[in-house]
Amino acid sequence: MLVSGSGTNLQALIDASSAAEYGAQIVAVGADRDGIEGLARAERHGIPTFVLPTSQFEDRPAWDVALADKVASYEPDLVVLAGFMKLAGPAFLALFGGRTLNTHPALSPAFPGMHGPRDALAYGVKITGATLFVVDEGVDTGPIVAQVAVPVLDGDDESTLHERIKTSERAMLVEWVGALARNGFHLDDRAVRLGGDTHDHQP
Ligand code: GAR
Repeated sequence: MLVSGSGTNLQALIDASSAAEYGAQIVAVGADRDGIEGLARAERHGIPTFVLPTSQFEDRPAWDVALADKVASYEPDLVVLAGFMKLAGPAFLALFGGRTLNTHPALSPAFPGMHGPRDALAYGVKITGATLFVVDEGVDTGPIVAQVAVPVLDGDDESTLHERIKTSERAMLVEWVGALARNGFHLDDRAVRLGGDTHDHQP
């Protein structure tokens, strides 16, 4: 898993994967910055961690190659981005395209980017939510695995809305990462279908 922040989505997957029947284990947690709660959560559970700040590389393509190599060294079947605030680059997608998931705190295709809850609030929508999708080269544009709707309430600010979204987002993530890991999945154009060998369907 790759994280950049508090890691509550990571924690939900750590908790779920403690049951053998869940069908997925977290082999490593990586981050683009040090000192975050997401890394501390992994360390407390004995999960290997690594940190690759973009500032330690000459440019973004060099970081992208290093990230791809590092993730590959753990031989994951699936990569889950949860609050990872960097875009996956071409080197990363060459290895992990078609089997990297990301979760976004808005109902795609509305409000992509770094500020889904803030943008939804500013627009005045009454319903927003979270989207789990297969990462492609765009910003929150990949094939959608699952979505969950969450109401916007009078008096919400960015923080209260985001926290309400995250409660539903974590449940969606746990349900679908488990289902995808247990069943495999494949892409049928933009539709994500359970079953089949994930590895046969990289772009
Ligand atoms: C989640 O809501 C996730 O969807 C969002 O950051 C939060 C991370 O929470 N990601 C993005 O906005 C990416 N564009 P967490 O660190 O507590 O899991």
